[in-house]
Amino acid sequence: MNKLRIGVLVSGRGSNLQAIIDNIAQGSLSVELAVVISDQADAFALERARTHGIPAVHVSAKGYRGRRDDYDATLVQELRKHRVELVVLAGFMRIITPTLLKAFPRQVLNIHPALLPSFPGLHVQKAALEHGVKFSGCTVHFVDEGMDTGPIIIQAVVPVLDNDTEDTLSARILKQEHKIYSRAIQFFAEGRLRVEGRTVRVSGGADKSGEYLTNP
Ligand code: GAR
Repeated sequence: MNKLRIGVLVSGRGSNLQAIIDNIAQGSLSVELAVVISDQADAFALERARTHGIPAVHVSAKGYRGRRDDYDATLVQELRKHRVELVVLAGFMRIITPTLLKAFPRQVLNIHPALLPSFPGLHVQKAALEHGVKFSGCTVHFVDEGMDTGPIIIQAVVPVLDNDTEDTLSARILKQEHKIYSRAIQFFAEGRLRVEGRTVRVSGGADKSGEYLTNP
């Protein structure tokens, strides 16, 4: 059977991209990485893609000031050229417009380093620390037209420790991001996700843990 073709959009270091590459290589994720696209020419993520022989494309936002829809139309062209069936945002620091969402309905995923709907937006690990929450984590969700508001597919929880800094908390969350993103993509590839209103149902074999977490 043909593997699902994914396109990964990035802006920076690409550690989530690397986790996807590694999980494909070691067999726990069964998809074809069709293209990696960055809005930043110097994103290390592009380097990572090239090292693995994956098409790596820089789509500059220069010349698109105030025309976000036109920029997204260019992204759509590039994604179509590589016959992408699922768009994976991995540290892509731009707002997605309806132009891209209409071209890929319910086919755009994002990862966010907090337990949504708490702490949407940017610098969220710092915000979680400042708020004094006892747990944080990460969320993979379908992208809709809002900011970090789409239906949630999977979340992982980590404790916030007394001596945490933004860096230590971010690192603890990132380790979980690297696991759950591939898991969500694999669910999608297997056709196991069904969206009912805001709720995403995962058919067959998802973990059912009845345990509670406390911290401390
Ligand atoms: C990740 O922590 C990801 O969750 C976050 O950016 C980082 C990218 O790291 N994304 C967002 O904040 C999106 N709003 P990476 O380039 O090493 O994958």
